[in-house]
Amino acid sequence: MCGIVGYIGDKRAADFLLEGLTKLEYRGYDSAGIAVNCGENIFVEKSVGRLDSLKDKLKYRMPGGVIGIGHTRWATHGRPSDINAHPHTDCNKNFVVVHNGIIENYMPLKEELISRGHKFISETDTEVVPHLLEEVYRGDFVEAVREVLNKLEGSYSLVFMSKENPDTLICAKQDNPLVIGLGKGENFIASDIPAIINYTRQTYILNDGEIAIVKKDSVKIINRRGEPVDKKIFHVSWNAEAAEKGGYEHFMLKEINEQPKAVRDTMSKRISKDGTKILLDELNWDKDFLAGIDKIYIVACGTAYHAGLVGKFYIEKLARKLVEVDLASEYRYRNPIVDEKTLVIVISQSGETSDTLAALKESKRLGAKTLAITNVVGSSIAREAEQVIHTWAGPEIAVASTKAYTTQLILVFMLALYMAQINGTVSEQRARELIGLLKKIPAQISETLSDVEPIKTFARQYGFNEDVFYIGRSLDYCVALEGALKLKEISYIHAEAYASGELKHGTLALIVEGVPVIALATQKSVYEKTLSNIKEVKARDAVVIGIAAEGDTELEKYLDHVIFIPDTDELLIPLLTVVPLQLLAYYAAITRGCDVDKPRNLAKSVTVE
Ligand code: F6R
Repeated sequence: MCGIVGYIGDKRAADFLLEGLTKLEYRGYDSAGIAVNCGENIFVEKSVGRLDSLKDKLKYRMPGGVIGIGHTRWATHGRPSDINAHPHTDCNKNFVVVHNGIIENYMPLKEELISRGHKFISETDTEVVPHLLEEVYRGDFVEAVREVLNKLEGSYSLVFMSKENPDTLICAKQDNPLVIGLGKGENFIASDIPAIINYTRQTYILNDGEIAIVKKDSVKIINRRGEPVDKKIFHVSWNAEAAEKGGYEHFMLKEINEQPKAVRDTMSKRISKDGTKILLDELNWDKDFLAGIDKIYIVACGTAYHAGLVGKFYIEKLARKLVEVDLASEYRYRNPIVDEKTLVIVISQSGETSDTLAALKESKRLGAKTLAITNVVGSSIAREAEQVIHTWAGPEIAVASTKAYTTQLILVFMLALYMAQINGTVSEQRARELIGLLKKIPAQISETLSDVEPIKTFARQYGFNEDVFYIGRSLDYCVALEGALKLKEISYIHAEAYASGELKHGTLALIVEGVPVIALATQKSVYEKTLSNIKEVKARDAVVIGIAAEGDTELEKYLDHVIFIPDTDELLIPLLTVVPLQLLAYYAAITRGCDVDKPRNLAKSVTVE
């Protein structure tokens, strides 16, 4: 999730590039750079850190050229640094490229290119692209780009600039957004509409597989076979603020809707081509490594802690290792029983949460092996942990965490299955079945997102209640905790989650006529028990909304309202059950007129104790 801009016209390109990048900084902000074709040479400037540090570098040396490209980065391959920042160039600085997405086959391509004498300077996957272009270019820029694209696997939006072709920018899209803004005697390229909205509202929105040849007076779209594509102009009617949110009213809603992509990106490179194996190349663990671990701690805060609770289930069930889950703020002051045979896994979206960071440092001091699961490459936690696996959710802006949670679930699941495959605690057939179902999750999340009307209605109906209870057993309980947290933090409704079997030990006293109860009933192994708990609350005249898997014909017999989600294995279903709960919290907050993206008293990154 980075930001891309491009300009071709008669004006100084750098002015638009910097302004466009400012508008896109919310998409990625660990480093930025621009490249401008100045005729004699291509000027490139890049800087780690916020865009302001790039602007500082350019203060007294803005390039004058009228064609250029720019990028603001959210690191994936390679830590944030000047060198890893885009644009990237070939050996002779004849070609320059900016890229969003992940080139999945960059390693073999890089090895081949190096063996043929190409010199790489960055750790990025992107750098293979200009080198490939250098190899195949024989005077026809468009043909060369098409040839390069045919060699790439993965997701991308790419913009190409060539010293020899100062009248052309070429861009291509696959699974990452790209838009072309149509001006008079000038044209603009951007990964997102906010970058261009102050310049033009006439746009071409590229589709997957399309390539645009952009000159100052014309834009030609072709497909990967080189055939022309007849493209309709899209008129942008959103205001600048809505454009930043991709047309959604709030970042939270945008991020909820980004989950299919975030989940797909997080899992995609980590499954073997034949769908039988989990590949966590970052780890390289073997039987001996796992034999040296007798206990695992998962330590985190808030939503990440809830992902850890699900992780405990996964690792214990699949890899048969004992797992303790702890709140970072408790763990660090508790003198935990940790030694060199303990693996401590910390989970953190931001990678900067101070309690989690301190718990990680304490674990290292005690001699534990450490692994971080985080969304931010180069964050303090990523740097401190011995090993890291990244969620590829892209920047999360809304304070309430949504896509970070689902991608964390994906990674803890993959980690558990990875360990189980090493240890032989899962059969080949079961692993294949689970991987097959895992691959279907992005589409199933999309399906879940497609029917929000009943959720809106419930939110309107119950949005003014002061108390809501969430109940469930097993993994449903873990998700109930996350659902209750979402409702609390953005709608300020008092929400509590209980393990259904615990109700009768005290909380049932609070269940009286009209109290809303959200009952999760997706765990087949405890279904009958769940059902009888639901009947207990129903008998107290609570208003019960059930969350059930498609095909469940029982629950409806007892409840007035049931939200159905697509069915999958009970281990994977938390990835789906959480979606209606996120939406319920969102629409309840809207009903109450709350500031969804910036709830009171809360901050996105909690860097204080
Ligand atoms: C809730 C939420 C918080 C965070 C918590 C940890 O929606 O976002 O509970 O999950 O502050 O933050 P990270 O994951 O950045 O360590």
